[in-house]
Amino acid sequence: MKWYPLPGIELTNEPFIKKVKVGGKNICVVSYQQNLYAVGATCPHAGAELSGGWCKDGKIICPFHRYSYDLETGKGSPGQNDYIDSYPIETKEGQVYVGIESFWDKVFGK
Ligand code: FES
Repeated sequence: MKWYPLPGIELTNEPFIKKVKVGGKNICVVSYQQNLYAVGATCPHAGAELSGGWCKDGKIICPFHRYSYDLETGKGSPGQNDYIDSYPIETKEGQVYVGIESFWDKVFGK
């Protein structure tokens, strides 16, 4: 897994959803209830930008048809049978990082 800095992102009490491109991936960085989360930016249902959505009950809600995905796991709500990617977040010396596995990490189990 490789860790990428997220410039301009900090742990704050303010809720936000920001789309960033990092490590070749489009990611939504979400500040929700004083935690940071990183999930895939595209809704698997019909391709909407999740950054235009909102959060409720620990989930990010898609603005198009209101499918919802767990911020921790990326798992779709019951009945959806889908998921979005979720990425680990770490903060070191005030800098926020997101961890992204490469294809080869997955193949070789790194
Ligand atoms: S495109 Fe996201 S719920 Fe339909």
